[in-house]
Amino acid sequence: MRGSSPAASGSAQRPNSIAEPTGRLGVLTPGLGAVATTFMAGVESIRRGLSQPIGSLTQMATIRLGKRTDNRSPLIKDFTPLASLEDIVFGAWDPIPDDALTAARKAGVLEEKHLGPVADMLSSIRPMPAVFDQKYVTRINGTNVKKGKTKRDLAEQLRQDIRDFKAQNKLDRAVMVWCASTEIFIQPGSHHATLEQFEKAMDRNDAAIAPSMLYAYAAIMEGIPFANGAPNLTVDTPALLQLANDRGVPVSGKDFKTGQTWMKTIVAPGIKARMLGLAGWYSTNILGNRDGEVLDDPASFKTKEESKLSVLHTILQPEQYPALYKDFSHVVRINYYPPRGDNKEGWDNIDIVGWMGYPMQIKINFLCRDSILAAPIVLDLALFMDFAHRAGMKGIQEWLSFYFKSPMAAPGLQPEHDLFIQQTKLKNTLRHLMGEDQITHLGLEYYA
Ligand SMILES: NC(=O)c1ccc[n+]([C@@H]2O[C@H](COP(=O)([O-])OP(=O)(O)OC[C@H]3O[C@@H](n4cnc5c(N)ncnc54)[C@H](O)[C@@H]3O)[C@@H](O)[C@H]2O)c1
Repeated sequence: MRGSSPAASGSAQRPNSIAEPTGRLGVLTPGLGAVATTFMAGVESIRRGLSQPIGSLTQMATIRLGKRTDNRSPLIKDFTPLASLEDIVFGAWDPIPDDALTAARKAGVLEEKHLGPVADMLSSIRPMPAVFDQKYVTRINGTNVKKGKTKRDLAEQLRQDIRDFKAQNKLDRAVMVWCASTEIFIQPGSHHATLEQFEKAMDRNDAAIAPSMLYAYAAIMEGIPFANGAPNLTVDTPALLQLANDRGVPVSGKDFKTGQTWMKTIVAPGIKARMLGLAGWYSTNILGNRDGEVLDDPASFKTKEESKLSVLHTILQPEQYPALYKDFSHVVRINYYPPRGDNKEGWDNIDIVGWMGYPMQIKINFLCRDSILAAPIVLDLALFMDFAHRAGMKGIQEWLSFYFKSPMAAPGLQPEHDLFIQQTKLKNTLRHLMGEDQITHLGLEYYA
């Protein structure tokens, strides 16, 4: 065990001892599409010394400890006891029976010169039959699907899959990261209010219980952390949050913060920091991958739209700054355009207002690669969620808001969207858990 000794004098005490990441870590993804296969291929390529883990904080970022004059800035992975990439074992579910190599080729994110050297590993990953219902993702048609009389039966089959996967691979620990399609919009309601109501709703096959909720339920029941990379409601309900707290399991979500929203959470805090006004923000995208096709369905798009729209309002706080942000118009469009594949192009037109009301415009044209941005997020979430579990953290992991478009937060609490506050929160949480001083950036001690 690490961390049972008191921290250096003047530092906060680490709240509990943190178990070492001994043995291997299973990373299970519902969904074996563009994001999941790009993540798996990348980890294997890094393990074989063929790529660098670019975009991953757990692998590349440092963390300052103590004063600026102390010159202590270790890599996060040397500072915190994270699982090593060598110890990761992959597993997945997908209604499409393609192995990870075939799925990666179809996704068209990575070139053959990058897939070839890891083809053996990828082709060995075959998806387990999924809990899938076209009612919730209308544009996917899959055959690799579980059968069960009730939703509860299906959840129990997922639990058995998790147990079998751990036994076959001799794993002590696993995490689950949702990398499957975006489901249709579901309002939280009475079926999600308590665990009892949730379980009854599973038993009577209620439409309010979506497949993603069954994966989350199964993960928590099996004591494995669950992170939600899509905007679906999934684990963000009182019933499943209660279950996660009762069982001591960390959960996080929702919706990986990759392209346009990532830019928004960088630019909007900058506009606000200078007290410039906003008249409107128009965002549009073209993308042609399977995710784009799924989001072409208005019901799935609504889930995504809700996730994307909340960001600006929360950052700009129009109620607090009516003169600057009252009634700004915010429009988000996603257009399915097959020729682009995974290489999305996003345009933002931002109408800002300056001194004496003079209008100005900012234009952002982002030619991004969605899954290239998402893959390191999957890796970081898997490693940090496993770390959080070993550190005795449970329920919503607000410190991982950094990775999400719609960060989950306690009921009644505004989520934090500003990327740089999120980054500070993440690093301060690591310092806190490891018994180091918080960094406040006050800095007066340097001028005493
Ligand atoms: N790439 C990004 O930048 C990004 C950013 C934020 C969120 N996301 C979300 O991540 C998810 C994955 O994106 P992608 O580009 O890999 O999509 P994708 O369409 O390539 O892959 C999704 C896979 O999930 C499978 N699937 C659907 N329902 C399932 C179920 N019930 N169980 C198991 N598998 C199921 C599909 O068959 C498909 O193979 C999407 O929800 C997307 O909105 C992606």
